[in-house]
Amino acid sequence: MNKEEQKILEELEKRVHQQLENEGSGHDWSHIVRVTKTAKEIAEKEKADSFVVTAASLLHDLADDKVVESEEQGLKEITAWLNELGVASSQKEHILTIIQTISFKEGTGKPVQSLEAKVVQDADRLDAIGAIGIARCFVYAGSKGHKIDDPSISIRETMTIEEYRRVPSTAINHFYEKLLKLKDLMNTSAGRQEAERRHDFMEEYLEEFYRETRR
Ligand code: ADP
Ligand code: NI
Repeated sequence: MNKEEQKILEELEKRVHQQLENEGSGHDWSHIVRVTKTAKEIAEKEKADSFVVTAASLLHDLADDKVVESEEQGLKEITAWLNELGVASSQKEHILTIIQTISFKEGTGKPVQSLEAKVVQDADRLDAIGAIGIARCFVYAGSKGHKIDDPSISIRETMTIEEYRRVPSTAINHFYEKLLKLKDLMNTSAGRQEAERRHDFMEEYLEEFYRETRR
């Protein structure tokens, strides 16, 4: 990565930090910091382009309709930033494509294409599982007024994006509806290896949870 690219990343980092400072649903700045760190590590192992991976990691939640008004609005602002900072057109397009394709809701359909997209998606997914994923799951459930657990609310096997987002579930159900599925959806071998470790920890957590709650 050259000096100019490093400067662009520093500026992007500042702007994303400012925008996500007060986000309360688990899409906060600390999520971005973790995903970016993890993505850089995987990028190195998988020999992916580190500028594109880092930029896309920093920006990946800024087009999410839970964070900004609409995906369109978010993408507009990201595009304006990349133009303003003089990011080369091919890199800009690549970064925008990654942001648009990696989320879980999109990911339920088409698989991501480029190595860089795969790396960022893996890093984002890793942050949803393991010890940190469990913490985020309960924070999210709390922010929506969902219960920790309720055996009378059944796990949803298939659901539309609308249902996934709007219908209240429970934190424990979310493990089965999403978190435990992520391990088998990993793209890179470095990502998969870490996912397996985090997955095992979640299984262990659930076992202890059921023991304590006599579920
Ligand atoms: P993505 O952007 O990958 O689709 P989300 O934005 O839906 O992920 O979720 C952000 C965080 O909140 C993740 O850690 C996710 O597991 C968690 N989360 C999302 N939906 C729920 C839910 N219904 N119950 C508990 N946690 C959730
Ligand atoms: Ni994310």
